[in-house]
Amino acid sequence: MHLTITRPDDWHLHLRDGAAMADVVGATAAVFARAIVMPNLQPPVTSVGQAIGYRKRILAALPPESAFEPLMTLYLTDLTPLDEVRRARDAGVVGFKLYPAGATTNSDAGVTDFDRVAPTIEAMERCGLVLLVHGEVTDPTVDIFDREKVFIDRVLDPLLARHQGLRVVFEHVTTRDAVDFVRASPPRIGATITPQHLLLNRNDLLVGGIRPHNYCLPVLKREGHRQALVTAATGGDPRFFLGTDSAPHGRSTKETSCGCAGCFSAHAALAFYAEVFEAAGELERLEAFASFHGADFYGLARNQDQVTLVKDPQVVPSSYGFGDDEVVPLRAGEEIKWRVERVD
Ligand code: DOR
Ligand code: ZN
Repeated sequence: MHLTITRPDDWHLHLRDGAAMADVVGATAAVFARAIVMPNLQPPVTSVGQAIGYRKRILAALPPESAFEPLMTLYLTDLTPLDEVRRARDAGVVGFKLYPAGATTNSDAGVTDFDRVAPTIEAMERCGLVLLVHGEVTDPTVDIFDREKVFIDRVLDPLLARHQGLRVVFEHVTTRDAVDFVRASPPRIGATITPQHLLLNRNDLLVGGIRPHNYCLPVLKREGHRQALVTAATGGDPRFFLGTDSAPHGRSTKETSCGCAGCFSAHAALAFYAEVFEAAGELERLEAFASFHGADFYGLARNQDQVTLVKDPQVVPSSYGFGDDEVVPLRAGEEIKWRVERVD
């Protein structure tokens, strides 16, 4: 069985840097035409100059014939200069990533004071830049499974009311609450959905032993939330689109007493989504979710070329090279139903 769709884009991707980046970027570039590259390096990508340098390093790591286009973002901090917003727009940066300080991997330099960044966000609104939001509160008294829901009430809703023209992507939504919120919002609000949140629930993290390679943030939720995400992704609503949040970490930093958050899914990202859409009986809607909704939201042209998936079960390798270390991919050692046969 074959399925040919317009070539997709990944609207949320972590590539890291250096030799590790060179080991993972090809997996994304082989299938996706473009990807929005997250800025949470160490140190974070906070200036246009840093983003231009990072983009060059990504392009240099690609095979010469690759036409893959990294779309760059800047990391919003309490101290982002107002002028950086205009410089970003002029340089073709697509948006700013908002990490509440301490919410996730390399987010320590994130926003601590939403009043303080309001003028910067107003400038984004004027320049037409998108705000990409990691939607979890960091209040230590809030249970980790509730942090997304509480973020909607405490931060996102007031932010949208304050900035009535701002375009926002609620990244990697994980709950029914987030799905309902996006559905009830105006079209200037979009949301990405990852393969792991569509395929797995929190039992896959914790039952029968702790599985560090299924640990990501926002953390996997209970089954009812997963089902709400599947309904959102496969339902045809243009506000929901593909963003893998593929976030590789070396095995040694995952299989340890305090392991990093992040699932590496770039090796089989489109295949994972195809499996979800097939299981939901909505394979014909995969193309819009993967290849149209995100481009339309960001105001970019849809891709012209096509990818063909084939149903041809394979076993996922147990690891891939990752700089000095190795990365354990999503579903390592288990079967995956689809693979990309060709791009043309
Ligand atoms: O699981 C995650 N990993 N969530 C994030 O928000 C960041 C990412 C990373 O950079 O590893
Ligand atoms: Zn991410």
